[in-house]
Amino acid sequence: MSTELVCFNRECRARFPVNQVVYECPDCGSLIEAVNDFSGTEPQALRALWDQRRLSREPLDVSGVWRFREMLPFVDDPAQIVTIREGNTPLFEAPRAAAYGGLDALQLKHQGYNPTGSFKDNGMTAGATQARCLGLQRVACVSTGNTSASMAAYAAAADLQPIIFLPHGKIASGKLAQALEYGALTIQVEANFDQILALVRRLAANVGIYLLNSMNPFRVEGQKSIVIEMLDQRNWRIPDWIVLPGGNLGNVSALGKGLRELKQIGLIDHMPKIAVVQAAGSAPFYRYFHCAERKSFQPVENPETLATAVRIGAPVSWPKALFEIESAGGTVESATEQEIADAKAVIGRSGIGCEPASAASLAGIKKLVARGLISPDADVVAILTGHLLKDPDYVYRYHTGGLKAPSGQEIASTYANSPVVMPNDEVKIAKFLADAVS
Ligand code: F0G
Repeated sequence: MSTELVCFNRECRARFPVNQVVYECPDCGSLIEAVNDFSGTEPQALRALWDQRRLSREPLDVSGVWRFREMLPFVDDPAQIVTIREGNTPLFEAPRAAAYGGLDALQLKHQGYNPTGSFKDNGMTAGATQARCLGLQRVACVSTGNTSASMAAYAAAADLQPIIFLPHGKIASGKLAQALEYGALTIQVEANFDQILALVRRLAANVGIYLLNSMNPFRVEGQKSIVIEMLDQRNWRIPDWIVLPGGNLGNVSALGKGLRELKQIGLIDHMPKIAVVQAAGSAPFYRYFHCAERKSFQPVENPETLATAVRIGAPVSWPKALFEIESAGGTVESATEQEIADAKAVIGRSGIGCEPASAASLAGIKKLVARGLISPDADVVAILTGHLLKDPDYVYRYHTGGLKAPSGQEIASTYANSPVVMPNDEVKIAKFLADAVS
């Protein structure tokens, strides 16, 4: 098995060796993908091997990404692999969230249980590994927070130098705290994500940094393990729908690619449908997807949302995302600030919790069920992308009142759970408790 890098544009398909640093095609400017040769792969033997590795204590086998390493055949020397036990994320049954969404049942694949609390770790283990394989020292990313937290951790674990570029003042506090703690050189630029990404794409070649944004094809390779692990957890029962939030659209690209490869190998016999949900104030892909004639892709100039993880107006991976949604079948939905906030609180009440962007999944499901696109008895898996504690300020403001949308409009705290302050008085507290439970 081997890997080469190929231009994603089906009319170009320029090819590059796996050890070339290339993020976009020098001929046509399109994105690059890793193309793996899976010839001779026996699906039943692969499943047996992956099952057997569950009994192992070896670091690569206990990783929820590298346990499936036959799907990531770009690494020649396994000693280069950087792992901090990523993946292995739970698949929860969530009856309350299901009822809220209008479904009989719903499973939540919670990527927030990763070592740095987001789905980025699945991809970053592969990206950091490729940096090591190439012998590169300085790694960089532009981020709305989670990519930078993840990259900083993997760089620290691999003894690489992490440089991160963030939109100043638009990063949830948990994420910024992580990047600082893991020792990343942190540059807060006074611009939005799209503007900084354009800047750093120009900068990368000149200053000799290896870009670990999701336009890096090895990040995508790692991230596709999310669907592999999910199907493995379901004993290879294919859901009707997979629903996930979309920002820069790297994740949907990765999940779609993973599903196509599993089908190619024969591990699944058809594709589940995919629904991507964008925050309404940052929804260029939603607008484009539902355009009568899809001519040119129009970015959103000033994207806004309290779900800062997906505050992105010019998603780099939209061509891949479109291809994957059209291959698998599926749709794109959008969710308002209020819809995201309420869906998030419902996921919290299920004892699960997630960060705002992740809750777009459930908000989107509710709308797609109401519109009849997803049937109430459908088998649905929603991907929760980040941990509740990534953005504690948002949570506190929602529950205590005072959460305002970027437009200035107040967000109703529909499922508020405000703390109460009491005097140090046993009688008063006992009375309060008696009233509260009656
Ligand atoms: N959910 C969370 C929690 C995210 O952090 C992101 C993206 C997404 C969803 C959207 O995923 O971009 O692959 O469509 N965060 C990036 C970052 C942009 O820099 O951390 P996507």
